[in-house]
Amino acid sequence: MSVLRADAARSDHTPPGIDSTTPNVARMYDYYLGGKDNYAADRACADEVIRQAPHVITMARENRLFLGRAVRYLAGEMGINQFLDIGAGLPTRENVHQVAQRFAPGARTVYIDNDPVVLSHGRALLMSDDHTWVIKQDLRTPDEILDTVDTLGLLNLSRPVAVLLVAVLHFITDDEDPYRIVKTLMNGLAPGSHLVISHVERRPDLETAAANYRHASSPVILRSAEDVSRFFDGMDLLDPGLVGVCDWHPEHVTYFSDRERALRCGVARKP
Ligand SMILES: C[S@@+](CC[C@H](N)C(=O)[O-])C[C@H]1O[C@@H](n2cnc3c(N)ncnc32)[C@H](O)[C@@H]1O
Repeated sequence: MSVLRADAARSDHTPPGIDSTTPNVARMYDYYLGGKDNYAADRACADEVIRQAPHVITMARENRLFLGRAVRYLAGEMGINQFLDIGAGLPTRENVHQVAQRFAPGARTVYIDNDPVVLSHGRALLMSDDHTWVIKQDLRTPDEILDTVDTLGLLNLSRPVAVLLVAVLHFITDDEDPYRIVKTLMNGLAPGSHLVISHVERRPDLETAAANYRHASSPVILRSAEDVSRFFDGMDLLDPGLVGVCDWHPEHVTYFSDRERALRCGVARKP
């Protein structure tokens, strides 16, 4: 994938069907991560967010590292070999299927996103992988997601699955009932399935920066740590509980400020 990205010139040539004029949450995140799959409108909005909350860069990068550690833990230590990554984002380094297959050979991964840019990049990346699929669907229709992976036989839903909702639930508004969405997904899965979440916490220093997303493809909804922990209701939250992404089984001792801990995460097991 690094080859793909190195070849991708940062140009504003826009493929048909892609809206490059509205800041797009997937491409803004790509920009925070240092990627090249973004347009001028994405960079302008992301730069404004960074100006108001510079720690968003560390939060994004630590989020990505958390995702890798969580998948490695689930594949390597919990025996999970089926991954449903919803809100998968643009491919980058250490993508879920690559980490999963390294620690659980033969692991199957289904990537779901509702963004056409993510879909086209993802499909290009996966052309030669027959254990990994990229599907255009929306987190807001969880029944359809489960139905698709089941009907197409991509995952065996009678066996444990890890659902990854990493940095995506804060794009679901309260009206869209994110708690119902998570419950529907987990109700459709076997005991021993796992839920991985990261979510931006509501903090005064992030309110203004988050408001920039009102002009983007999706608003950002900040939620308190207590509200984020409610996503795990009915499940066994694993150690170390709900923490900043940098604090979830870190590999190195690194200093992070409290502000950089505003992206909360947790991993839970369905009993
Ligand atoms: C910030 S990125 C996170 C990417 C990846 N999960 C990670 O943490 O590195 C959020 C992704 O969620 C996707 N997304 C936002 N709302 C969605 C929805 N309702 N259904 C599916 N995907 C959605 C965006 O297109 C974007 O790719």
